[in-house]
Amino acid sequence: MTNRPRRLRTSEVVRGMVRETRVSKDSLVYPFFVVEGNGIKEEIETMPGQYRYSIDKLSELFDSLKESGVFKVLIFGVPEHKDEIGSSAWDEDGIVQRAVRYLKKDYPEFYIITDVCMCEYTSHGHCGILCGEYVDNDKTLEVLAKTALSHVKAGADMVAPSDMMDGRIAAIRQVLDENGYVNTPIMSYSVKYASAFYGPFRDAAGSAPSFGDRKSYQMDFHNSREAMIEAELDVMEGADILMVKPGMAYLDILVKLKERFDKPVALYSVSGEYSMIKAAAQAGYIDEMKVVGESAVCMFRAGADILITYYAMEIAELITEGSIG
Ligand code: PBG
Repeated sequence: MTNRPRRLRTSEVVRGMVRETRVSKDSLVYPFFVVEGNGIKEEIETMPGQYRYSIDKLSELFDSLKESGVFKVLIFGVPEHKDEIGSSAWDEDGIVQRAVRYLKKDYPEFYIITDVCMCEYTSHGHCGILCGEYVDNDKTLEVLAKTALSHVKAGADMVAPSDMMDGRIAAIRQVLDENGYVNTPIMSYSVKYASAFYGPFRDAAGSAPSFGDRKSYQMDFHNSREAMIEAELDVMEGADILMVKPGMAYLDILVKLKERFDKPVALYSVSGEYSMIKAAAQAGYIDEMKVVGESAVCMFRAGADILITYYAMEIAELITEGSIG
């Protein structure tokens, strides 16, 4: 036998040498939820091990992040006040804006990305301004741009619009540029599917729609070519990073995006993916850390340049101990 692929699998040393995928803590982003109030660190029922923090409790989280070597975060705000148009989303003293100001002051070594969307702020839970029961695209652009600007004014390093309105990257880019923020990048949730994998997140953020679903703006999971149209529009409108979401079941889309576009591509392994692994682990059906490490490596192997995951600290730990890497 001339070719014996097993030769390069005989020891950890040689396997480590020929590894095709290298993972780094630099590519990890940790998403978290910040709530109004004081002294709050409450566990999210559907995401054991994940919490909603009030600003005064954020230091607990950020000290752990620092310790694990994860220095990039994605913030979601859970406001007290909701109304038809989601006006607290762009309030200078809104929850995200205050959290960003606090973090920039006390944790300047962190890179702060903010999620820009209306669903946590609207009384109806949809991602934009309603016209009857339809989310009005062009009216929503204006409030998204205002919201993004208010995040950046508070000190956000990057904004990540997740609403799936048409033309939102152009609208946000224009407003940021007009206000002198020409170097603030936009990470677009370019290819975001209407997915049941977001279930636990909606519990965490209190953002489930009060009627209907998000299928008139988020993508239909039967489609793959349409994802290329979404990404192409975002590239033309000035997105700096493209994102695919959810992660695990959507790696084919990630592969296609990487082949076609030269922008960095982020993958969001969403709440439902976290909760499924957690639940199976708690039931004793799987080895949590092994599954977490393997899925993270596979997502990078598929081509992710950036991985957004609630397991970021655990993955960093696996890298530190050499279990993956
Ligand atoms: C806001 C938003 C959602 C997620 C990220 N940004 C929820 C949704 O679209 O319903 C989901 C993240 C997750 O499930 O972890 N639009």
